[in-house]
Amino acid sequence: MKKHNFSAGPSILPEIAYQNAAKAILDFNGTGLSILSISHRTKDFEDVLASAQSLMRELLNIPENYHIYFVGGGASTQFFHIPANFLATKAGYVNTGVWTKKAIKEAKYYGQVEILATSEDRNFCYIPKGFEIPADLDYLYICTNNTIYGTQYKEDIDSPVPLIADMSSDILSRPIDVSKYALIYGGAQKNLAPAGVSFVIVRDDMLTKVVRELPTMMNVNTHAENNSMFNTPPVFPIFVMNETLKWIKSIGGVEAMYKINVEKAQILYDEIERNTLFRATVDKADRSLMNICFVMAEGKEDLAADFLKFATERGMVGIKGHRLVGGFRASCYNALPKESVEALVACMQEFEQLHK
Ligand SMILES: Cc1ncc(COP(=O)(O)O)c(C=O)c1O
Repeated sequence: MKKHNFSAGPSILPEIAYQNAAKAILDFNGTGLSILSISHRTKDFEDVLASAQSLMRELLNIPENYHIYFVGGGASTQFFHIPANFLATKAGYVNTGVWTKKAIKEAKYYGQVEILATSEDRNFCYIPKGFEIPADLDYLYICTNNTIYGTQYKEDIDSPVPLIADMSSDILSRPIDVSKYALIYGGAQKNLAPAGVSFVIVRDDMLTKVVRELPTMMNVNTHAENNSMFNTPPVFPIFVMNETLKWIKSIGGVEAMYKINVEKAQILYDEIERNTLFRATVDKADRSLMNICFVMAEGKEDLAADFLKFATERGMVGIKGHRLVGGFRASCYNALPKESVEALVACMQEFEQLHK
């Protein structure tokens, strides 16, 4: 049976990336060696790294005065790298759920944290707006797409202080104005690569603003200056990321990707609105294109387990909602085909018919 992979992460990647990765595991670039077993200092791998960086720059329109580097440790390592490097006195955080809470906890090891806004009052089902940003902050920190709750910033916000964003779950899914950010980072295991690599896009002036002496691996300059090669980078995830970036370019870049993502999300949100058995959990204006959360309609809650079983039997994978939200979450990342969304919608319709 065909599987439709709605997993929140690690998640579906483009078919061509799987195929090329499989080939490269057996014979990378005609070297007669596996990509899993080559030195990161070989020209062949250096070319892959350079290609991934240059494609990312091209696809996101990243200005010249930004470094791009790839490191291990997951997005969670950046939760403490960021304040270690840039939090001298006080930073502002917008609390939009688990992933910002975790970042806030780490920042408190290094300085004061001011929570400028939070959506905790309604279990993070919206993005707070219209908050003041004091000019004396070392930086402002946001998470642009909240994977667990399915909320997403729809605009690049203006900030009088350096803006730092976790874009783990929406990077390359929509156009962004990189010049509004001082630093963008994320784990690559949703829209880009298998788990094991994070990307960091950092404006050059930030590299001169490191506020304390740090162990070498914690300093942003180490990775920027050594072009991701201070230590052994995650070779295989970077290879796959390069394949994914080539695929995004081949379908027309981020603008084209965005159009497809809007279309896919619309199909599913429309069905959630229409179907009498389900309802969306997020305020309309803040609904994520990547992680689409929904629950059973009022009075229909006892059908949740049945629907999960029903959908699973029809090939849907990874649609169980996070325990903090309940219900269902369909992650519709870049590589998820429209047919998978249509299959889920068909499932919801069939289930509705059974319970009329
Ligand atoms: C938005 C966001 N930030 C951070 C993380 C943590 O990433 P990692 O597991 O790479 O540390 C996740 C993981 O799902 C996430 O969705």
